[in-house]
Amino acid sequence: MCQQITVTTTTAMDQPERGESQAGPGRVQVRRICCMGAGYVGGPTMAVIADRCPDIQVTVVDLNTARIAAWNDADLARLPVYEPGLDAVVGRCRGRNLHFSTEVEAAIASADMVFLSVNTPTKTRGIGAGQASDLRWVEACARQVAQAATGHTIVVEKSTLPVRTAETIQTILAAQRPASDGQPQRTFSVLSNPEFLAEGTAIADLEAPDRVLIGGEDPQAIEALAGVYGQWVAPERILRTNLWSSELSKLTANAFLAQRISSINAIAALCEATQADVREVARAIGADSRIGSKFLTAGPGFGGSCFQKDILNLVYLCRHFALGEVADYWESVVTLNTWQQHRVSRLVVQQLFGTVTGKRIAVLGFAFKANTNDTRESPAIRICGDLLEDGAQLAIHDPKVDPQQIAADLRQPQAPASPAPVSAHAGGGERTWIACPTPEQACHGADAAVVLTEWDQFARLDWAGLAERMRHPAWVFDTRGVVDGAAVQAAGLRLWRLGR
Ligand code: NAD
Ligand code: UGA
Repeated sequence: MCQQITVTTTTAMDQPERGESQAGPGRVQVRRICCMGAGYVGGPTMAVIADRCPDIQVTVVDLNTARIAAWNDADLARLPVYEPGLDAVVGRCRGRNLHFSTEVEAAIASADMVFLSVNTPTKTRGIGAGQASDLRWVEACARQVAQAATGHTIVVEKSTLPVRTAETIQTILAAQRPASDGQPQRTFSVLSNPEFLAEGTAIADLEAPDRVLIGGEDPQAIEALAGVYGQWVAPERILRTNLWSSELSKLTANAFLAQRISSINAIAALCEATQADVREVARAIGADSRIGSKFLTAGPGFGGSCFQKDILNLVYLCRHFALGEVADYWESVVTLNTWQQHRVSRLVVQQLFGTVTGKRIAVLGFAFKANTNDTRESPAIRICGDLLEDGAQLAIHDPKVDPQQIAADLRQPQAPASPAPVSAHAGGGERTWIACPTPEQACHGADAAVVLTEWDQFARLDWAGLAERMRHPAWVFDTRGVVDGAAVQAAGLRLWRLGR
């Protein structure tokens, strides 16, 4: 059903420097890769491919000129994505066989293989709003590839997509410019190659993946892509499936991972009610090799750009195929996650004598997890939103998140560029916030510190020093289980820890 698609073009250009991939039978060797989308996936993934495959020229393109400029910034500390180790990889390859550009068509035209690594957020309007994936960027890419490609091009779905999206891409590629006599043939093969990296560990995940998944039905195209990964990934870790299994496996993997988090968060709430300790429960069940120990850390709920969106996408697909009970089952994972986030903010308000109006609350951590500057769907957004709604004054510190991003996420005016220690307890019930460059400034005059991201440095905070700056009785709410509880209590602070 999904073999090579042939299109005869009127504008195909000869590309003598390209690999053999347009040469028909024989081993397909990839020489030039174009990746559409220079985001959290496209940038790091292509940087590692370039690093591990010095014979392949890799060009990452994006419509966002500021993002491309940041990828080309001479100062590697200013790359648009923060990932441990990424600067070193980019430093080794950039200008050699790794390029960042806004010249989308030229990069497509010279590529043997085009990765689609663009955003696929949840639709916000129209049919499927709130659940289905918005595929407008993927569709636009397919149209651009159809217009600009030359010779044979392998199109690789790297974005996370609803099952059967490859069919749409194939239809678009096949529909461009009907055959015309005497023109060189343009052909396409579509593969699915979902990405499983996690932010914060992207480089390690890419360099030593548990598995690489390639879905497709054109054996030559599959082997061409397997040949790229085969330069550093062991053969037994490169899995080949049909297109639809590959697309669905990505949604399923995220759904299973998120389900574990909702499961342990549900148990954490029960632990709090029964004096059980969720860490002990997690250790006890994780020792069962059938369950496994990973993804059993209770917290303020999962965030990140993908878990919620991918589960909702799955829910939408299930409803589409009239599988209502299956849809309800997966939807409950998201429902519990939302509940968990609201539960944290409710708890803070309750402990602070039922009101936070005019009270200053230090928020430590805004990223959705440690070691990333990404705030998409961060639990901090909903929790801070609730506290602001209740009239709190938030003093937010995150070591990597840009205050402008926090302002945008909270739909608040931007904080002053260099916030002076503010006077706390305005008492007017204003919904305000400031960004603080240090935890000390955030805690100045605060009634509570709420730890929302598990940054390493929060395990080493000087609670005695912080306590001196806070208004007493003062609380520490640790939603990540990272703070030194003994030091908090020794400093005379009240401590609430999630799941205990
Ligand atoms: P992102 O928003 O960081 O990056 C997407 C980029 O694509 C943006 O910079 C955007 O400007 C660009 N773009 C959009 N249309 C374009 C076009 N026509 N031509 C060129 N560039 C275009 O998104 P991301 O986090 O990198 O995610 C990309 C995909 O990967 C999504 O489908 C996501 O579900 C999936 N994914 C993400 C992660 C993750 O950790 N972020 C992990 C695995 C899979
Ligand atoms: C997740 C998956 O782990 C990746 O395999 C996948 O490729 C990616 O989504 C994606 O498709 O975007 P990511 O969202 O970057 O990666 O980070 P995770 O480490 O999975 O964390 C997600 C959220 O769950 C974070 O908010 C994290 O704090 C939370 N979490 C994670 C917990 O609360 N407990 C855990 O035990 C693990």
